[in-house]
Amino acid sequence: MYNDKIEAINKELETVFNNVSNKLELENIKVEYMGKNGKITQLNSLIKDVPNESKKDFGMQVNALKNKFTDEYNKINKELENKEINEKLNSEAIDVSLPGTEIAMGSAHPLERIVESLESLLMSMGYDVVEGPEVEKDLYNFELLNLPKGHPARDAQDTFYVKGDEYLLRSQTSPVQVREMLKHEGKEAIRIICPGKTYRRDEDDATHSHEFTQMEGLLIDKNITLGDLKGTFESIAKMLFGEARTTRFRPSFYPFTEPSVEMDISCFNCNGKGCNICKGTGWITVGGAGMVNPIVLRNCGYNPDEWNGFAFGFGIERLAMLKYGINDIRVFYMNHDVRMLKDFDRREY
Ligand code: DAH
Repeated sequence: MYNDKIEAINKELETVFNNVSNKLELENIKVEYMGKNGKITQLNSLIKDVPNESKKDFGMQVNALKNKFTDEYNKINKELENKEINEKLNSEAIDVSLPGTEIAMGSAHPLERIVESLESLLMSMGYDVVEGPEVEKDLYNFELLNLPKGHPARDAQDTFYVKGDEYLLRSQTSPVQVREMLKHEGKEAIRIICPGKTYRRDEDDATHSHEFTQMEGLLIDKNITLGDLKGTFESIAKMLFGEARTTRFRPSFYPFTEPSVEMDISCFNCNGKGCNICKGTGWITVGGAGMVNPIVLRNCGYNPDEWNGFAFGFGIERLAMLKYGINDIRVFYMNHDVRMLKDFDRREY
């Protein structure tokens, strides 16, 4: 009689195990059959009605059923676990063939590129980089540079005055020369470059900006010649515009240099034959320079009988416009599109 019961449970289990589809169902089955009041556990209570000679057989059969349940339970449990892991792996899989998210990289501003390349060249030649204030004294920006009040050369630098007529937004980086000479009190040689912002009351258009960038150079020593200036300029020209560049000086006038020159490079576009960039002349003017005027030396505490030197000034925007083929200076200040900056990564040579 217990045989039938055991057999019935056995049969029932086959269907039940066949239909189980997840772990929760499986756990419920375990409780239903092997729990405290489970169908298999309950079989134990039948023992009292089993005749003595059959008790052993009964026990063996119940145990066999329990073992069978456990084996089957473990097998299905393992299968369900694998199924869950696989489902999880599939749903969380990373598609390694998908294109990645691009990381935006910064890019140096073209004006900064020019300044940095000039700095590294001139530092290799022994120059120090010196900065000065953008709000400057008229005394340093003009007066001591041999541009007294009413001097006609002041007109070319229509200036923003800040406070009466004593302070201004510097119209050139040349006042840093003055500051440096005053600092060394006429006692030491000087070799400096001074990059920085400068300001003039210009209407902004394709070639003018009220705010622009200059780089000044000053060398004070003994027995310096115009040839030294020419050699220095030649190195700068080749570094910026290629080894094939040649240079020339044209006479000019600046109150702070005597003699003064315009510094030209042979046209990098037509190699001197004449084109629209050099306006048919084969030459492009890139800066002003000269031997430091003895009046300026004296004004700034250097004895012109003992010391001399040269100075030069570059407009950084002009260099960048030439180098990168830009025809509107405002491009440098319209920082509205990083693609403009990115473009220079490709154009660098
Ligand atoms: N400061 C001049 C300008 O803004 C540029 C310049 C010319 C600087 C000649 C110099 C120099 O030091 O020697 O137009």
